[in-house]
Amino acid sequence: MSKALNLEKSLALFEKAKELSPGGVLGIRRPYNFVQGEYPIFLERGYDGHIVDVDGNDYIDMLCAYGPVILGYEEKEINEAVKEQMDKGFCFSLVQEVQNQLEQRLVELIPSAEMVVLAKTGSDVTSIAVRIARGYSKKNTILRCGYHGWHDWCVENPGGVPQVIQDLTKEFEYGDLEDLERKIKENLDDVACIIVTPVGHPTALPVIAPPEGYLEGVRALADRYKIILIFDEIRTGFRVAMGGAQERYGVTPDISLFGKAMANGYPISACVGKKEYMKIMESEVFVSSTFFPNSLEMVASMKTLDILEREKVVEVMWERGTWYLEELEKIKAETGAPVTVSGIPPMPYITFDKADDVYKQRRTLFFTEVIRRGLFIQPYHHWYIAHRHTDEDLKRSLQIIRESMEETLKVYPVKK
Ligand SMILES: Cc1ncc(COP(=O)(O)O)c(C=O)c1O
Repeated sequence: MSKALNLEKSLALFEKAKELSPGGVLGIRRPYNFVQGEYPIFLERGYDGHIVDVDGNDYIDMLCAYGPVILGYEEKEINEAVKEQMDKGFCFSLVQEVQNQLEQRLVELIPSAEMVVLAKTGSDVTSIAVRIARGYSKKNTILRCGYHGWHDWCVENPGGVPQVIQDLTKEFEYGDLEDLERKIKENLDDVACIIVTPVGHPTALPVIAPPEGYLEGVRALADRYKIILIFDEIRTGFRVAMGGAQERYGVTPDISLFGKAMANGYPISACVGKKEYMKIMESEVFVSSTFFPNSLEMVASMKTLDILEREKVVEVMWERGTWYLEELEKIKAETGAPVTVSGIPPMPYITFDKADDVYKQRRTLFFTEVIRRGLFIQPYHHWYIAHRHTDEDLKRSLQIIRESMEETLKVYPVKK
């Protein structure tokens, strides 16, 4: 086994954090979602495609802050634009012109965008979309598929959510049109919307690129039963294509949601959609929040979009990601690892197959070896390629995955 990392400061800070905040850190960032005691918890800084923890360990980061960091850390051009806006002011009782500029740009980029509402987080806009759909349709039931955030209507761990709210959301299986149609029929008079991530990315399971005809089939069902169709593009936006998965796969929803990569880490999100539905917000449907109009993130988003277009980031990322997935397949074949390589080129992933009764130990050891060698990835969430990952970073990450797999299979071989 490789040598354990020095995580002394991280672990001490975590002890303090637990006194101050329930669980110390929130959600998926909690240590048990990695390998407890092996992964850092507190970071000091990031640069390009790397992060550095408080103990000085440097990692190639392929979690990319769970998606926002599409370019890299310390993007000077974006930071300079933000600093300039800071000097003008960015938090007012009214709005600034950059709101129009960004909204216009989104309308031009995204096929389903005729009007836009800007917010801050992914959960903000998935909830805005659902409220629009309920307000417009005067119906209540939501058919959902995928992770859509932490709000009451969709949270996966339902503690604290009244049963009546939980009962109004029904989950369907990604990729299975029959299941969707069954759920529609079961709730026929009351379906307000179908909300789906256009690429399937269930937690801890392989990522599923849309099967042939699937998104078209979802669109057709929504049309047949006159249900509003929402694409949750929080992860796929600006990554699968500048106009989202809807552009790449050629299926246009009624409303869609963008966040994460939109401003390379600055908190901003967008609910975009057809005028017919969005205009309900002029009358019956109310949304407002003190910080939604703040302009720093809008400026950051404009600059991020400039760089994405100028450096043809999506194209480059797909080319590199295609190669990366092929290399992962080679590692699987050459080591005989019981894993599934999945994902789409900008979002690669491997999951451990339930090949025998030590598959969990195998997974834990693999991720221990990986982090000790300096690659930051997560067992239960797919990974991302960032534009500032150098070719060397990507090659090194593959080397680490290969070595870690070989080491793991020495301890937990697969019995033939
Ligand atoms: C597909 C999807 N939708 C919505 C969300 C919620 O976004 P946020 O965490 O910014 O509230 C996420 C977050 O991971 C997501 O992946």
